[in-house]
Amino acid sequence: MLNVNDWRAAARRTLPRFVYEYVDGAAEDERCLARNRSALDAVSLTPRILRDTRRIDPAVSLFDQTWAQPFAIAPTGLNGLIRPGGDLMGAAAAQTMGVPFVLSTASNERLEAVREAAPQAQLWLQLYVMEDRSVAEQLLRRAKAAKFSALVLTVDVPVSGSREKDIRNGFKVPFKPSLPLAMDLMRHPAWSLRQAMGGGPKFVNLVEDTKARMSAQAQAALLARAMDRGLDWASLSWLRRHWDGPLLVKGVLHPVDARRAQQEGVDALIVSNHGARQLDVAPTSIDQLPRVVDAVRGAIPVLMDSGIRRGSDVARALAQGAHAVLIGRPVLYGLAVKGQAGIERVLTTLASELERTMILLGETDIAALRVSRSPADPCQG
Ligand code: FNR
Repeated sequence: MLNVNDWRAAARRTLPRFVYEYVDGAAEDERCLARNRSALDAVSLTPRILRDTRRIDPAVSLFDQTWAQPFAIAPTGLNGLIRPGGDLMGAAAAQTMGVPFVLSTASNERLEAVREAAPQAQLWLQLYVMEDRSVAEQLLRRAKAAKFSALVLTVDVPVSGSREKDIRNGFKVPFKPSLPLAMDLMRHPAWSLRQAMGGGPKFVNLVEDTKARMSAQAQAALLARAMDRGLDWASLSWLRRHWDGPLLVKGVLHPVDARRAQQEGVDALIVSNHGARQLDVAPTSIDQLPRVVDAVRGAIPVLMDSGIRRGSDVARALAQGAHAVLIGRPVLYGLAVKGQAGIERVLTTLASELERTMILLGETDIAALRVSRSPADPCQG
């Protein structure tokens, strides 16, 4: 297994088809998914020569925390479907690698259990706001108590994107066994229906105190159907009343929104099209990134995700002004094939590809890679 593509192929062989396609698929015609790659591939980086590159420092600092690498694990829901305990493994791998782990609202694990699995990790919580806002309020209380250090508000899912592979496969949340799904599972004897349901009753990470007796099905229905489409800029002050730590907004693509978010006091932005799983006509993150960076004029850090598959893609994003990136599907391929060790190997591969790219570019640290190649530099190659 040399690269993320090899891990992807192995994940495809390992997982039941409906699970692989849930992970790998995207919205509607998957044009945005293709664009995410073609736009990254269109970015070339010109090497600088005769520089001392004996010491390469890939570390970055954000919110007074140091990351060993300029990437974090992106929030992905239903990781228990890929492997029971998937989020516990992801958090433990992040701890080993010294990078943050972002836990999805749609996790199959309680956030307290994720903290126990990775006591030293930098854990962040991703938040979906549902119509019943008390759900978010109790999640934030628990996250604070469990020492989650930052909050990622995802704003690009007022409604779920239409992932037609999931529909054809009969896969939906709340999970209902169907004929195509049962046949798929029969071809994978190692898979039980219980595993497919993400570890039984712990279907989502939503319920601790107020709704403790809600059934797994009801929790899933809550998550699937009741996104708060009334969520707007004014809602940020409600959020701030319940969260006093760093707040990131994920799903920013328009520079005007980036400027507004900065003015509203958001601490950092994540430029993202949700890995092409939402709006199929959305622009790519790598194309929007320089516009967003210009819009906030260095006032707050800008992160990005969607399509990163190589260390050289990380370098591409940094050279376009990103402070760091998030890694989505590659982590899930590693999880599918080898659990925690698989995630660590995928991230180690990205790290060594990034290091080699930096040496070849003649850049020794991350800040220099970002600044020396910013569009404002007249000598940019
Ligand atoms: C996601 N993503 C996501 N984002 C989020 O904010 N909350 C979530 O629960 C999920 N769930 C989720 C599930 C799966 C299976 C995938 C692949 C993605 C989006 C994720 O955080 C990230 O934006 C993309 O995955 C980045 O694109 P790449 O790296 O997968 O190309």
